[in-house]
Amino acid sequence: MLRTHTCGELTDGSKGEEVVLCGWVDSYRDHGGGLFIDLRDRYGLTQVVFSPESGEAVLKAAGELRNEDVIKVVGNVALRPGGQENPKIPTGKIEVRCKELEVLNKCVSPPFTPSQQDLPGEEIRLKYRFIDLRRQEMQDALILRSRIIKMMRDYFEEHDFIDVETPILGRSTPEGARDYLVPSRVHGGEFYALPQSPQLYKQILMIAGYDRYVQVARCFRDEDLRADRQPEFTQLDVEMSFIDETDIMGMIDGLVAKIAKDLKGLDVQLPLPMMTYDEAMERFGHDAPDLRFGMELVDCTDLASEAEFRVFKSVADSGGKVRGMNAKGAAEKYSRRNIDAMTEYVKQDFGAKGLAWFKVDDDGKLASPIAKNFDDALLEKIKERMGGEPGDFLVFVADKWEVTCKALYGLRKKFGVELELYDPEAMHFSWVIEFPMFEKDEEEDRWVAMHHPFTAPRPQDLEILESDPKKARAVAYDLVINGSEAGGGTIRIHDQETQSKVFGLLGMTPESARERFGFLLDALQFGAPPHGGIALGIDRFVMLFGGLNNIRDVIAFPKTKMAADLMTGAPGDVDTKQLKELAIQIVKPEDR
Ligand code: AMO
Ligand code: AMP
Repeated sequence: MLRTHTCGELTDGSKGEEVVLCGWVDSYRDHGGGLFIDLRDRYGLTQVVFSPESGEAVLKAAGELRNEDVIKVVGNVALRPGGQENPKIPTGKIEVRCKELEVLNKCVSPPFTPSQQDLPGEEIRLKYRFIDLRRQEMQDALILRSRIIKMMRDYFEEHDFIDVETPILGRSTPEGARDYLVPSRVHGGEFYALPQSPQLYKQILMIAGYDRYVQVARCFRDEDLRADRQPEFTQLDVEMSFIDETDIMGMIDGLVAKIAKDLKGLDVQLPLPMMTYDEAMERFGHDAPDLRFGMELVDCTDLASEAEFRVFKSVADSGGKVRGMNAKGAAEKYSRRNIDAMTEYVKQDFGAKGLAWFKVDDDGKLASPIAKNFDDALLEKIKERMGGEPGDFLVFVADKWEVTCKALYGLRKKFGVELELYDPEAMHFSWVIEFPMFEKDEEEDRWVAMHHPFTAPRPQDLEILESDPKKARAVAYDLVINGSEAGGGTIRIHDQETQSKVFGLLGMTPESARERFGFLLDALQFGAPPHGGIALGIDRFVMLFGGLNNIRDVIAFPKTKMAADLMTGAPGDVDTKQLKELAIQIVKPEDR
């Protein structure tokens, strides 16, 4: 070791000792006769003092130190003079009086420094990730990530799970996104797909009798990126045999409770609360509702059909929905200008046609420019339905059911933040269950699997699977943390007949099903046990436990929204020779 101690461990107990420290120059201050630097490593900061006692040569060399130079110092631990202690850091009582200084490496002028208060834009941070990763917040996030993964691995090992690695180069398993493809040199013109998840491999492992599988698995999906999505991300992937959905949820309940307790000291009540997909959509307009606060959606379609207000009546009469929310006590907070902006937001982001609103005035009357279109008795009924009291702000969206869901979900989120409806430190865990088997791909006018094509329908819905696919519900469950989908899983189809039927409903001919999934259909005929599983999004999990809202802040080397790595410059060009070997010819975008 080049050092005797780290920069985070010396206290007054070491007074007088000679020590050797290594690290980066975090900051330097020239106080006339003396020079002070904060020396930093992963473990903390230690103040190093250079004075005339250090000797002329050392003092001179110290005067040339700049931010982020890497140095080694030899010196003695001394108590800081009275009044100069820093109670905020563990080493705050001491300083190291330097006797020898060795510059291990100079740093060119950095675009920003790790302790800088106002950070540069994220592009700069990602380009100079080696500096960004030196920041305390990044270190904390990656240490948290490492701890959470360790807890997950320990938990599953205690429960007899076997960690099995599955291939990265494989055949595509559709999970609803585009595949990343890798050309094969040996089989010119053919491609591997990077796994969107190890879904089929883990099912095969169940068929092979492994009973309990777990893997910290890399997944790759070429999809539109958002604050909580990355093109490559990590799942805690789990599969079990001879179980039902309560066993899977129970296993994850135990994990969540353990992590919440060990990391945050939280006592999570088990089993975690559950609600069906239909209930979540009805009450919150979304399948991953944030249950840290109330403010549920209220259906007023029946009342709307009594109104003279054209907007409400026409929607109610034509099979749409009129739904609203009561932002308690928020009437004063939202001016006309704010409401106009809010209206624009629901129009632009969710395709709503407008936003109707009322404020409940001091006399308990509903006030709004549109109030004149309603008779008093109806206004009273609306107020009652909405639980309106003086000072409340009521908003309504009249539209197709889907649009009311999206727009009100968006508004609810916005109110949650703006009206500070929850403690940002609070954590809420719950399950949403009984998802639809299928959803309509409107563009292609066909059914697609809501989770994936290997999901079992509820036994009672087997009969309506073909006659009324829209109604069929799956044995599916999503883990929701603070309004984010932190994980999702299902019980799988384990007989070949049902699997073939579902492939058919998804528009596959028997030939194309066999061509893509022949190995699964075969395996299902060779003694497949009942099985099911789940995958948790580890990046999201860490983000939520870390109280962060950008997935890139919990990944050492993330990609931008344009799926680029700004540090290495990936994706990039390759040699013509490489392309030739792969039998690939590039057509430039402008020639497509
Ligand atoms: P699913 O597609 O729901 O299920 O993924 C499971 C969890 O992975 C996380 N996740 C993501 N995280 C970051 N970036 C992404 N692009 C991304 N996509 C998904 C989410 C999600 O809940 N094979 C099934 C699991 C199963 O059925 O067992 C699957 O992959 O937190
Ligand atoms: P209009 O009659 O279109 O001028 O709308 C009168 C008010 O109703 C405005 O405040 C609109 O924002 C609102 N509004 C219009 N369409 C809808 C709708 N589909 N749902 C809710 N409010 C609407």
